[in-house]
Formats: sequence, structure tokens, C-alpha cells
Amino acid sequence: MLLTPILLLGALSSATAKPLLTKRWDDFEVKHAWDEVPKGWQLHGSVPSDRTIDMRIGLKQDRFDELVSALYEVSDPLHAKYGQHLSKEEVEALVAPHPDTVDLVDSWLAAHGVDTTSAQRDNGGSWVSVTVTIEQASRMLNTTYNVYRHPQSDEYVVRTTSYSLPRILHEHIGVVSPTTYFSTMRSMKATSFIQADAEPVQDDLEFASKLAALGPLATVPTSCNTVITPACLRALYNTSTYTPTATARNSLGVAGYLDEFANRADLQTFFSRFRADAAGGTFQTVRLNGGGDDQNNPGVEANLDIQYTEGISFPTPNIYYSTGGSPPFIPDSETPTNTNEPYLDWLNFVLAQSSVPQTFTTSYGDDEQTVPQDYALNVCNLFAQLGARGSSIMFSSGDSGVGGGDCRTNDGKNTVRFQPAFPASCPFVTTVGGTIRVNPEVAVSFSGGGFSNYFARPSYQSTAVTTFLQGLGTTNQGLFNTTGRAYPDVAAQGQGFQVVVGGRVISVGGTSASSPTFAGVISLLNDFRLANGKSPLGFLNPILYSTGAAGLNDITSGRNPGCGTNGFTAGTGWDPVTGLGTPDFGKLQTLIG
Ligand SMILES: *[C@@H]1O[C@H](CO)[C@@H](O)[C@H](O)[C@H]1NC(C)=O
Ligand SMILES: *[C@@H]1O[C@H](CO)[C@@H](O)[C@H](O)[C@H]1NC(C)=O
Ligand SMILES: *[C@@H]1O[C@H](CO)[C@@H](O)[C@H](O)[C@H]1NC(C)=O
Repeated sequence: MLLTPILLLGALSSATAKPLLTKRWDDFEVKHAWDEVPKGWQLHGSVPSDRTIDMRIGLKQDRFDELVSALYEVSDPLHAKYGQHLSKEEVEALVAPHPDTVDLVDSWLAAHGVDTTSAQRDNGGSWVSVTVTIEQASRMLNTTYNVYRHPQSDEYVVRTTSYSLPRILHEHIGVVSPTTYFSTMRSMKATSFIQADAEPVQDDLEFASKLAALGPLATVPTSCNTVITPACLRALYNTSTYTPTATARNSLGVAGYLDEFANRADLQTFFSRFRADAAGGTFQTVRLNGGGDDQNNPGVEANLDIQYTEGISFPTPNIYYSTGGSPPFIPDSETPTNTNEPYLDWLNFVLAQSSVPQTFTTSYGDDEQTVPQDYALNVCNLFAQLGARGSSIMFSSGDSGVGGGDCRTNDGKNTVRFQPAFPASCPFVTTVGGTIRVNPEVAVSFSGGGFSNYFARPSYQSTAVTTFLQGLGTTNQGLFNTTGRAYPDVAAQGQGFQVVVGGRVISVGGTSASSPTFAGVISLLNDFRLANGKSPLGFLNPILYSTGAAGLNDITSGRNPGCGTNGFTAGTGWDPVTGLGTPDFGKLQTLIG
């Protein structure tokens, strides 16, 4: 597949090197371009050419197909290699770039005066980070960087609406960042919201002990229709009687973001009100890339995540990752330009660890169309690596049903189409939709669901999704991509969560609540497997769509309106509102534990 870089590199030392080289690096082809400035952002002004940016270059991963094959082997319960997850070194060997790719990219960097010896090389060398001036970056990518502002979050970023690469580099470089991906951790949608009109309860200890006394087959009380506490979830998802024992080896990670801090005092208050037996339980905060841990500034999303992962998985060790960015970009100061990009720093950090948590949850996302496809593919590939290492990765499916706002496409055609979300649409993560009420649970109307326009449907879900599409007939025809990766995969409660923030109980909703809930149950299953000398579950989807499906409660009513339509309707089997359904820990223990 590689061109003939050896021949071309040979030319470097010849007398004609200079003109040849110049010609080669000047032969540009567009890598990614937007038709318009991404929605929500405004051109603010120019950026001084001597400012610097941290540029990340994702190199083509030489044997990535083999990594994907290996991922599916170790995740397929019927395969002989099921559960034989790869080590950090094994993954890195598969994703390392070809040496010719490294040489070619280095000579391009050198031609632009970049000191390649100071480049940081992560993930088997497949991500190269260099600090360059705006002037250098503009020449390298034949582009113009500008300052853009996101009025809603008052965030400023340095980005471009299109960038190019020398033609010869297109098959060696997957993506360059920061370029056309505008979202930052602050501008992105956290998938939770405070339910101002819902009356929070102050505690439910008495209720919790009554429930526990009734045992696992207890009918979940009707109060859980409106008010969700750990006791409701533990009864509903059948985990009440399980006590984790593999706590020396098992852990659960919550990916947190800039300016979102999980509060330790609030967690103790939460335990004292809602789960007395967990009093004193704690979590570890891992700070990376300058991430903070301001205990005077509790975040709703961070507290929701940590209180409910712990509320279900206690005493399993939980880790809260506080990922910083460079300082926020301030247009008129002399500080270096930031990237504040949400995924790459965190993923490269986690993948660099020799052992990784067995379960992760993340509650952020974007409309897929606002994420450049080259960027989305490269980030999704990093999730595949984490799955191959043996981690189960949960993402919330989004809070806008089949799409929020006017659902216009940004391809210049301005047509109305359902708006899938990313990373929910990445086939290598487990996407969690939302439910409400008990006896029976039904889909909550905001539950994000749909079909990717970037990622083709993976085979693990082809039977489930084909069956759904056959039943759907012509409903919503033309509004979604029938061949795309479909989501959510599963669901869990998503409204009325009682969360302690700054000492007060508030009611919080969103698939942000669903994802940590599902992750809590998966963490218990990982505990059970580890305690029995088995491997962790790792990438979940292949087993959930097969052996595990019978361990999920199928949600058969409700729908997820959006884009001026009724959206999709939940029904028997998989659907793009609640996926395969909500977890029954007891049954899952028998089936896949
Ligand atoms: C770079 O882009 C500009 C348009 O912005 C174009 O006119 C120019 O020819 C390009 N340079 C090269 C070397 O392709
Ligand atoms: C539909 O999804 C496929 C991937 O399955 C993709 O190749 C195609 O471009 C998508 N179509 C549209 C209109 O986005
Ligand atoms: C809960 O799990 C047990 C096994 O531990 C199972 O027998 C029971 O059917 C489950 N309860 C419900 C309500 O599904």
C-alpha cells in the first residue's frame, strides 16, 4: 500500500534534493475542509504568526487491520482466544507506524524547520506531538489559522476551516490536530442537566434497608418512578445482594474534563444519605495534562458520575481522571495557544499505562457531523486499542433523541437529517441510552439514538439491526443512514437521579446518568469474573449482542423524538432508543459472568 518512499528518500542526498523536496512538500491536496464555520462558532480575528501551538499528528497505523481482528477474537465468546487481551506492548507493535512513514513525516517536519528530536512520540510512535509556530503550521498545512469564539461558553480557540497535506503524505497521516475539529471540553455537550422542577429527596436510608430486606426478587417500589437513588438502581438491576471481592485488581475509571471536579466531601454526604454501608468509601483522582482538583468547585457531571459508579460498584476502586488542557486561549495575552481537545490527551495517557481499568464511563459527546471524519476515525481507533487491552468502554448516547435543533446538514445542502452523536457512533464503544419509570421501564424521550454516517455497521449488530429495519419499513426513510453503525447498544435509567453537589441534593437527568449506571453494573460483572479467575469482559458489544442479550431487560415502549419527527419507537428486540435493554446483573452473571 505504501508508495515508494525509499526511492524518494534516496533523493534527499542527491544534488537535486532541494528543488525536488520543495516541489514534493508543495504539492498540496486538501485533507479536510468545512463548507462553513461550524455551528455555534464565530470568526473572532487573526492570530499572531509567532504564537505557538502543540500540534498532534496521527500517523497511519501500519497493522491496524490486525489490531481490529485481534480485538474481535478476544471479544468473541465463541473464539478460542476469548478474554486473552493484548498487553500494552502487543498493541503498540500493531499500531506502530511503518518506518518509512516515520522517515517521510520527519523529513517533512525538518523541511519546515521543526526539531524532530524534541518531538513527543506516543502510542507506539503513532502520535507525534511537536510545538510549532502558527507561521510554521500554516506553511505545513497550506492553511490560515484564525481565532474563533464560542459565545455560548465564551471559549476561544485557534482553528482553521480547511487544511491540506502534501499529496505524498496523505497515505501516511491520518489526521492533524488542532485543525478543523472545533469542539473543546467546555463547548461540548455534557449529557446531563439539572431538573430544576423536580423535588429532590434528602435521604432514603430507611427505604434502602427495607428494599434490602426484601431480597433480590423485590418488586421495585413505585417511588423509583420519579426519584432515583442507588437503592432503586440496585434493586432494579438486581445487584443488591452482590458484594465485590476482587477489589485488589478491579477498578472503574470515570473520564472527567476541564473544570469538572469530583468532590470528596459530597461523596461522603451522598453515602450518608443514600448508601450508609459505603461510608468512608473514596476514589482516586488522577490529574493529567494540567487537570485540576479544586475541592471548592464541585461539578454536577463529575459528582453524578462518581456518586453513581460508586453507589453501585462500592467497594471497587474508582478513578476520576481530571484532564486539563493548556490554559484557555485568551486572544490578547501572550500565553501559548491551547488546543483543549477532549480525547487525544486522555486516550494517549491511559494507553501509556501498563495496566488499565477494566471499566470506563464517559458522558460527553458532539453531533457527529461537527467532528471531522478523519479525526473521528483516528479517535475511534484509540478506543479499539483500549478494548483490545481488556477495557469495557461506556459512552452516553446523548440527550436530544434523534437530533436536537433544526437538524440541518452542514455539507452545504442544508437538508434535514437525523443527527448521530460521536463518540456514541464509534463501533468500538458501548453506547448507553436512557430509560424512565419502573414496572415497566420505558424509554425516556431524550434518549439519543440513531445511525452513523461515518462508521459502517459492524457485524456484531447486523442481525439485530436488520431485524429492526425490516420492522420499521419506510418510517423515517431518507432521514438516517441505513448502513451505518447503529446505537445505543444498551440502556439504563436516565432521570431523577439524586446527586449531592455542594452539600445539597439536586435532581439530575440525562444519559450522563445512564452511562455510569451501566458501567457500575459491568464493573460488578468484571469483579465476579476476576474473582473466579477469569479475564475481564473487555470490549462488550460482541458478547452483549449474542450470549449476553438474554441478560438484558428488553424495553418495549417509548420513543425518542427529534428533528421535528417522532423519532424511533422502542419495541421487542434491539431498537435505536434503548438498544438491547437494561441490565439484569443476576442473569448476566449466569450468562457471561
Ligand atoms: C495554498 O493555498 C492557496 C489558497 O489558499 C493557493 O492559492 C496556493 O496555490 C496553495 N499553495 C500551494 C503550494 O499549493
Ligand atoms: C452512510 O454510511 C456509510 C457507512 O456505512 C457511509 O459510507 C456513507 O457515506 C453514509 N452516507 C451519508 C449520506 O452520509
Ligand atoms: C436476579 O438475579 C437472580 C440470580 O442472582 C435471578 O434468579 C433472578 O431472576 C433475577 N431477578 C430478576 C427480577 O430478574
